[in-house]
Formats: sequence, C-alpha cells, structure tokens
Amino acid sequence: MATITITDSPALPFVVLKFGGTSVSSRERFVTITEQVRARLAEGLRPVVVCSALSGVTNALEALLDASTTGAQAVHLEALRARHEAFAAELGVPASLVADELAELDRLATGVALVGEASPRVRARVLAKGELLLTRLGAAFLAAQGLDAHWFDAREALRSDGRGEDHRRFLSAHVHGGADPALAARLAAFGVVVTQGFVAQDPSGATAVLGRGGSDTSGALFAAKLGAVRCEIWTDVPGMFTADPHRLPQARLLKALDYAEAQEIATMGARVLHPRCLLPVREARIPLEIRCTPHPSMEGTRITADAPGGTAQVKALSTRKGLVLVSMETLGMWQQVGFLADVFGVFRDLGLSVDTVSTSETEVTATLDPAANHLDAEVLAELLVRLEPHCRAELVHGAASISLVGRGIRGILHRLSPVLELFEEHRVHLVSQAASDLNLTFVVDDATAERLVVRLHQLLFSHRSTDEVLGPRWQELFGSGAPKRSRRVPPWYEQHRDALLAVAAQGTPVYVTHGPTVDDRLQGLQRLPAVSRVLYAMKANPQHALVARLARGGAGFETVSPGEIARVRDAAGPAPFVLFTPNFAPRHELADALSADVQVTLDNLHPLERWPELFAGRELFLRVDPGRGRGHHAHVRTAGARSKFGVSPDQLGRVAELAAAVGAKITGLHAHVGSGILDPVTWSDTAAFLAEVADRFPDVRVLDLGGGLGVPDRPGRPGLDLAELGQRLAEVKRAHPDRALWLEPGRYLVAEAGVLLATVTQVKRKGDLVYVGVDAGMHTLLRPTLYGAHHPVVALERPNEPADAVVTVVGPICESGDVLARDRRLPMPREGEVLLFAVTGAYGASMASNYNLRGLPREVVLDT
Ligand code: LLP
Repeated sequence: MATITITDSPALPFVVLKFGGTSVSSRERFVTITEQVRARLAEGLRPVVVCSALSGVTNALEALLDASTTGAQAVHLEALRARHEAFAAELGVPASLVADELAELDRLATGVALVGEASPRVRARVLAKGELLLTRLGAAFLAAQGLDAHWFDAREALRSDGRGEDHRRFLSAHVHGGADPALAARLAAFGVVVTQGFVAQDPSGATAVLGRGGSDTSGALFAAKLGAVRCEIWTDVPGMFTADPHRLPQARLLKALDYAEAQEIATMGARVLHPRCLLPVREARIPLEIRCTPHPSMEGTRITADAPGGTAQVKALSTRKGLVLVSMETLGMWQQVGFLADVFGVFRDLGLSVDTVSTSETEVTATLDPAANHLDAEVLAELLVRLEPHCRAELVHGAASISLVGRGIRGILHRLSPVLELFEEHRVHLVSQAASDLNLTFVVDDATAERLVVRLHQLLFSHRSTDEVLGPRWQELFGSGAPKRSRRVPPWYEQHRDALLAVAAQGTPVYVTHGPTVDDRLQGLQRLPAVSRVLYAMKANPQHALVARLARGGAGFETVSPGEIARVRDAAGPAPFVLFTPNFAPRHELADALSADVQVTLDNLHPLERWPELFAGRELFLRVDPGRGRGHHAHVRTAGARSKFGVSPDQLGRVAELAAAVGAKITGLHAHVGSGILDPVTWSDTAAFLAEVADRFPDVRVLDLGGGLGVPDRPGRPGLDLAELGQRLAEVKRAHPDRALWLEPGRYLVAEAGVLLATVTQVKRKGDLVYVGVDAGMHTLLRPTLYGAHHPVVALERPNEPADAVVTVVGPICESGDVLARDRRLPMPREGEVLLFAVTGAYGASMASNYNLRGLPREVVLDT
C-alpha cells in the first residue's frame, strides 16, 4: 500500500477542519477527529485542525474574570485546572502540557485582582486561554495516534486590523481574509496542523479575540489564507435546515446552498453558523461544509458559489419574534420631497437600525428588531417625539416576521399563491421583499407566527421529495428529539441497584442522591456560553454533602433564609458566592445578611422606605415582576399581579429615587417566574424584560434570570432543550454584551439525581383497588399530595419481572391525600421489598415534615 509522506510533498492542498466546543469535549470526539484527519490525508489533502475551547470553558473564563475583580479567583482557577487535567487524563496525554498556560492564567487573574478590574486587553488574553489549553492537549492526542501533528499558535497567522476602541479592538477583533502564500509555505512544512479558533493578534503584538462565535470565522480565515480546497465546520447538528428543527421536527436538511442564501439564513437567525464566517470563504470561493461530529457519516450542508438547484425556490423559513412595528403616516403632504430622508434621519440619530420597510405614497412602515437594537421604553418614546414634526407615528408591539428565504423569489410569486392564501385569516402588518431578491417577509402578530410557520412549512416542503437540495427531515435523522436524546440513557439508579439496596438495608425511608449526576447537570449549565454564573437554589435540597459538592463544582448559592446562608457557610466555607433573595424577610434578617458577605436582593419597597439606613452605600439586587408566571402548578407560579413576589415595573422609578437617596446602587436585576418549566423561551423572555428594565439603572451589571428549569417527570418524555436555551441566551447576550446573565436553578441540578427508597409494609385490597402501604408518606414526599405530582415507581429488587399488577401506593398518615402514586404498573409488591420513587432529588427531603410525629427520612449521597 502506498504511504503518503507529507513533508515530501509540499504541493498538497490544504483542507481546514474546524471543531466547535461540543466537538472537542471528549475522547470519543477526538477519536472522530483523528479518523477524519486520516481520511483527509488519504484524500491527498493537508489538514489544518482549528479547535474551539472545551465546552463551557470560555464561559468559565468569563466567570474567572468576574470573580478576579473581587479577589475571588481561586475556586475558578482550581476548577479550570481540574477540568483540563481531567481532560488530559481522559485523552491519555500528560497534564504537564498545560502547566505553562495555567500558570500564566493564574498570573493574569492575580493581576486583575490587584487592580480590581480587567481591561479589554487583559480580558482577551484570559479568554484566549481556553483554545490555547485545549489545542495543547488535542495536538498531543493526535500525535499519540501516530499522526505528524504540530501545535501552531493562531496568533502567528491571524493578525487583526487593530481598529476600533479597545473593547472592539481586543474583544471583537477583525481580521482580513486575503490569501497568504507565506503562511501556506510555512504550514506546508508540518504534517497536520492543530491550531486555535477565536484567537488572533493585534498589530501591537497583544492577543485579541474575534468575539463569540469567532471560531467559525477563524476556520474560514485559515481556509482563505491557505487557499484550502474546502472549509469544514464540524458541530453538533448536521447543517442548516428549512426551519428551526427545535420547533419543527419536520424541518428538512438543506444539502446545498449558495453563499448568499446561506448568509441570509445565518443572518435571519439559524444558529448553526456564525454569519460573519461566510465572507472570507465567499471572497476566496472556497466551499464550506457543515458536518455533524456525533454522526460523522451523515451528509451535511455544502455551501458554494454555484450550488445545484439553480432554479428559484424557497429554501427556508425563518421567524423573528418580539419586533416593534413603527407605522408613519405623512401629514397629508402628498409627494412631499425628502419625507423618507427626514424620517430615517430620526432612526439614525437614535442609533436604531431598521429591519424591514415598506412604503407607499402616504405611509411608511418599518420594523425594529430588539436583538439588534436597545428598545427600551425611553428610546421608543423619544422616537415618537422626534417623528412628530414629520408624520403621525404609531407603535405596534409584539410583532413577528416570517421570511421565505431563497434565491429569485420575485420570479416565482405566481407559484406562491397557496402560501399567500394562508395569510387570509391573519393580520399582516407589512410585506417586504428584499432588494437582494433573497427573501420575502411578512410581519404578523407574534401570537400567530408559530402556527403560521407550521402551516407554511407544510405547504412549501412536505410534498417535495429528497433531491440535490432538500435532504431528510430532522425527525428522520434523530427521532423526535435532539441527537443526544435519540438513545435511551438508562437512569443512574439502574446501574447502582446493589449500592441502593445496601443503603436501604440500613433503614428506610431514605433519600439517596447520586453525586456524579448532580455534577453532570451543573456542568451542562456551566457550559452554556452566555451564562456567566450558576447559583444553586438550595431550597430544592440543602443537604450538607450536596451543598459542599456543588460548591466544589463552582456553583454559587441562592438562599432565602438565615438558615440556608448558615448551611452554605457550614458546608462550603466562605468562598462560594451567596445571593440572599428572601420574600417578606424581617428587618433583622436583611441587616444580618448585609453585614455578612452576602449579596442582598430586595423584592419590596418597604425596606427602602422604612429602613433606608440599612442600605446606605450598598450594592443591591432588585427582584422585578415580569408580569406573567409560569410553572407546573398554580402554587409555583411566582410572577404576575396575583403573586406576592417582586416589585412591579410601575414602582421602578420610586426604587431608583429611594436607592439614590441613600447612595445605594442597583447592580443586579432578578426575576423568577416559576418552577418546573420546559420552554426555553421563558428565560430569553425574562432576559429581554430585565435588559429593558436595566436601562433605568445605570449600575446594573447582572441579570439573574431565576431558576425554574424543569425536568421530565416520566421516562422518555422530552426534557428542557439545553442547546436551544443556550442559543436563545446567546442571542440576548449578543444584544447586551455588557450584562452578565445568571441562572439559579434548584430542581434542574438535583431532581433526577435523587431517589426515595421505601419499604413495603403491607398490601390491602378494597373494592377493585390494590393499596400498597410503604413506610414513606406525604410527610416524606409531599409533592404528589400538594401538586398532584407524578414520580415514577420502580420495584428495585425485581427489575426484570413483568409489571402485571396495577396498584396505588400510600403512606401511613391519617389523611386521604396521603397517596404517593396512583394506578401504577408493578410486579405485585410484597411485604419487605424496596420501592424506589424516582426524580425526587428536588423538593423531596427539603419539604419533608414530622407530621403525625413519624420522623424525618434519612439522607445519603453516593459519591460515585
Ligand atoms: N429562585 C427563586 C427566587 C425561587 O423562588 C425558586 C424556587 C428557585 C430559584 C428555584 O426554582 P427551581 O429551579 O427549583 O424550579 N416545591 C415546588 C417548587 C417550589 C419552587 C419555589 N421557588 C415543587 O416541588 O415543585
């Protein structure tokens, strides 16, 4: 067999493979990377591998920067060190490879702590570390697999233009894409190049970064500079789809697009590819392919200058919600010269970028996208005032745009008549056809957009067979869920049956929490790039060992009572960040918290009005009521006029006045709308609301979006789509880069990690019901009684026996409501056997009582 000796054939063309955060975060993924690199070598190509940081690490570096300003960097540094050392061990390469980068990170953080702030220049150096660390390990892994892999510092290749004020210059740097033969000659000396995404060099020689999502751009820039045969972007989805597959599983894979179409779809909101990354490959006419790392053999999207399917057709539907519509009617001056210039001048002066426009002789209608504009009430009021001399202006809130995207739409309007008929029953505020002829946009009411998209998609795509442009449905590729959910992941307790039975043998009822499952959920949230801090709402389960474990994992804590504050300090010492978010707490509790090292959140005017002396010169958080509660049960919806939580928006002026009077600053805004919620829109809505409120408080740095993240209550049901949550929050973060977004989940971190074990005491038949009595009851697990909550029940000792009985599981408490589970299928229970109640790690033990003086359950944490 012929072998290819790379260094002897400098003429081999380059191919760039860029791997995103989730694509580099396990050994399994690196095995895929190795296989792909081998395949490219076999094709006679010279691979350049561009990597993002381990998922969540850029986020962790942001958190490190935040913490360093107050000297609290140690835990964060330790977590970053531990994560990379563990990853080195997973890859089987020496951890010493990252020692220098970690030592420098330590020095940088110490420097920030000394000065008390991080300049954009220092921030860029810290943020670049994620990619530098990962590629040190990745290059060593590829070399250990027998590849001629070399680590290369991207700063030697990607030089930014050094333009803009420091924030842009160092943190959102711009690099030109032209061909770079000197670089090509240099890299031709290496076999396989492993380098960093996101990282570049300022003309001063300092490190700069390309802004979030910048790794895609790095891949494209390397491809353009090296004149590569193609640029492959490897991610966790196979490509672009005809609609957002998270909302519409019928969405079809788009196999081929041209640059302009792909740019349009990326800009219109598909989050697969960063829109900025297309320019360099487009200029150099280099094909870009999107590929799926978890499914490397799956066909992806290929983006080229001359994509097949050249005839005009609609290729995708994109939706944007929450738009503000401005309708402007001239004051009767027909054919008035300069009217458009006058009104658009007003938008320009206010820094508002207009999204879509339609004009007639007497009226102009335009939309403003909140993702691209700061649309607080003040700006909009000012807009109306300034438009007044020119026209009669009116605002319509809650609009959404639906765009049909594709080349040459003007030429196929006649074929769209069934589509247009659909709009008959809906109010259309505006129709706009892009001058580029790449989209046709309808602006409708927010509330109808979702339904319309489903119908439109059906009309446009369901009848079309697979061809060179349209591929399979998302649902065919992955089932109804995301790729990760397509396999049944057995719950942890199925693998720890013996350990659980051993715990039960020491006495029941007992709650058992699985530590590694908690770690996994925490890391899942910490990996969301837009979230800079995760606080554990410890009311869900304040168990000592659990609190200590979460603190070690880098969580902060959300507390609601002096007891909870004391528990954090007792279990985890002084290091963790603690937020105190009480409701109707007496004066002395606020006074005590303020004198301890705890961030206090106010949720009422009373303390500021009556006890102002407590808050003099303080930095405070404020809980605001966004007006609409959500959650699994009326009892847990914590917003809206009928809930006792938070300050209503009409009181914000008063808060600002009272705070200013005592020299207190509002540095954080908080909202928590409820508990047990599975729709990711909840938190992006809350973020958008708080971002608007933040404009009234100049010192706000943090938007705490609350907790409430739900978990499925039955096996097989879809859970919260974390990827979508991450994407939605990333959009908010892009619009408000200066605000740190925090989450404070309780349930999400611990619910699935916990089970309740109880022993069957007796069986009773009455009428046609079979009651199974256990030694746990509503005093142990209140949720079924209080909320009608469902918890799966498992016969732990008899996993393989047929579930041929239907039973109602009850406790020993003297109330008819003392029922833990109704009408469940189990092998007929026997006295003395152990039943397991799943998904009870949250609000199980913490809500247990001593009712009927039956005593509290035991609590145990399994470490492995
Ligand atoms: N932040 C605040 C201000 C809260 O009030 C709560 C919960 C959380 C965070 C955490 O919410 P989570 O992420 O756990 O949903 N006993 C009920 C749940 C009550 C939640 C109360 N507040 C249940 O068992 O479902």
